[in-house]
Amino acid sequence: MEPIYEGKAKRLYTTDASNVLRMEYKDDATAFNALKKGSFENKGRMNKAITLLVYKMLEDKGVKTHLIGDVDDITLLVKKVSILPLEVIVRNVAAGSFSKRMGVKEGTNFRRPIVEFSYKNDELGDPFINEDYAREMGAATEEESAYLKRQALLINDVLIDFFKRVNLRLIDFKIEFGRLAEDPGQIVLADEISPDTCRLWDAETGKKMDKDRFRQDLGDFMESYAEVLARLQHKA
Ligand code: TMP
Ligand code: ASP
Repeated sequence: MEPIYEGKAKRLYTTDASNVLRMEYKDDATAFNALKKGSFENKGRMNKAITLLVYKMLEDKGVKTHLIGDVDDITLLVKKVSILPLEVIVRNVAAGSFSKRMGVKEGTNFRRPIVEFSYKNDELGDPFINEDYAREMGAATEEESAYLKRQALLINDVLIDFFKRVNLRLIDFKIEFGRLAEDPGQIVLADEISPDTCRLWDAETGKKMDKDRFRQDLGDFMESYAEVLARLQHKA
């Protein structure tokens, strides 16, 4: 069967139900807007498993998501949504593009979390935007942007605790939201939450346990994902 959508790390397939899709996790990894590419055995399986654990936990805490259920080792069943063209990023500690843009040393703690938006557009390189840009680009109304920010901060609180229990520090992460096909007024958390989309550092050693191992050629890339998954499966 042909996917109805193929992204850098996932494929989407239709099902017999009109508003239900199968989301398949690929082994491909890209970084720097796909300038750097690779394929890593079991990456899809591990990101699917981690996303499932995280999403189930978020649903238990009352966060509405697109998750319906588990299909197989690389596939989840999800509600069909139209993804808002926004990446919502939450930062607890300076790293990545923040450190680069602002000249702040990686590892510097923020007093309070930073929430930022970028406009999802690969040709433009996902530019940094604010609520006014989001409104004028038709990505989200001001009320919706405020809602996304509140949800992102709530999800951050829940995720910090969740990862702390398995000795991981949540440095930052990126989430996406979508409008339900069956009820476009309702915006839910969609896409994945995995070491591809979070920065996670070992709480004791500070070792990076996320996609920065690929971005920065640090080695032990899949070993680190396996360690994150094993910790979550055993303790979460
Ligand atoms: P950044 O520091 O490169 O802006 O990344 C912030 C967080 O967002 C980090 O946890 C990695 C994640 N991220 C994605 O999930 N997808 C992306 O395309 C980018 C640029 C970052
Ligand atoms: N996922 C993005 C890309 O392919 C960037 C990143 O995560 O670093 O290019």
